[in-house]
Amino acid sequence: MGKAGKQRAKERREKRLEEITQLRKIPYSPSDRWWSSNTVAVVTGSNRGIGFEIARQLSIHGLRVVLTSRSLGPGSEAVNGLANEGLKVDYYPLDVTDDSSVRSFADWILAAHGGIDILVNNAGVNFNKGSENSVEHAAEVIETNYYGTKRMIHAMVPLMKPSFHGARILNVSSRLGRVDGRRNRLGEKTLREQFLKEESISEELIDQMMCNFLHQVNDGSWGSKGLPQVFTDYSLSKLAVNAYTRLMARVLSSRPTGRKIFVNCCCPGWAKTSMTGWEGNTSPEEGADTAVWAVLLLDSPSGKFFAERRELTF
Ligand SMILES: NC(=O)c1ccc[n+]([C@@H]2O[C@H](COP(=O)([O-])OP(=O)(O)OC[C@H]3O[C@@H](n4cnc5c(N)ncnc54)[C@H](OP(=O)(O)O)[C@@H]3O)[C@@H](O)[C@H]2O)c1
Repeated sequence: MGKAGKQRAKERREKRLEEITQLRKIPYSPSDRWWSSNTVAVVTGSNRGIGFEIARQLSIHGLRVVLTSRSLGPGSEAVNGLANEGLKVDYYPLDVTDDSSVRSFADWILAAHGGIDILVNNAGVNFNKGSENSVEHAAEVIETNYYGTKRMIHAMVPLMKPSFHGARILNVSSRLGRVDGRRNRLGEKTLREQFLKEESISEELIDQMMCNFLHQVNDGSWGSKGLPQVFTDYSLSKLAVNAYTRLMARVLSSRPTGRKIFVNCCCPGWAKTSMTGWEGNTSPEEGADTAVWAVLLLDSPSGKFFAERRELTF
């Protein structure tokens, strides 16, 4: 790219950043405030990073937030940090990869709160940094990011409270999980076609893709299968989360008014957290913005993918 081209690209980037900054400043109108201090919002993996910020911002908006973490120490520290800001949240330990932990959480939330209104599936792991693409931790990545999200949805859907405005599930995903993303794409033709066509997405299809990938990791063939080339395990796990979002939105769409559950996903952008080695172009606070905006929409859509308060294609 020549000098003039680089300058134009820089100007476009700056203009886009300015637009995003303005979008984030759009105030929440009091007339759109459908929630109250009895609206229960659960955020997984909220002891730090984007999850902590989602919990913090929802608490500032006046919801009853349940902060969760897989270890007690960091969870208590996060709760105390919020208390120092005058924010009171509830706490319960939760490891999304552990059936008994999820069951214990479900029993507690039912007893303590009578159910939930909002579930934010934020917990996630990615062991790759920079330009690495190692699949050494592929099993843990898939188990946490995809099966953890699915496990929570299965456990929480029966506990979602009836509401005129509908209960909400928001899966924190990534642009890296787009089928046809700018940095990543699913090259394998049959899979591409299946994941691009909403009607062909099924739980079996997604699970099978995860299962095949883990076999390919074991036999060393994963690199030649037309899978995403950037952070392959992480990107595939988020592709699965995106597909599962669309599937669940469809499955739950037939519920009657008053029992509706809206399911969406979002990308927080490249945020400076432990996951990115503190690199990135946004703060965790900015990264949390779209997730908070999406779950607080007065008229929620379902089956959508958002970033910077706008809809993206899958
Ligand atoms: N940062 C980015 O640029 C970026 C970009 C796109 C998408 N995302 C997504 O945003 C979400 C939050 O990421 P982050 O950047 O805030 O990362 P982070 O700072 O590493 O936080 C991840 C959180 O998930 C928790 N977690 C991990 N495994 C868990 C498990 N089995 N059960 C319950 N909690 C678990 C972690 O708990 P511990 O403290 O116990 O480890 C931590 O609280 C993730 O889903 C990530 O994929 C992030």
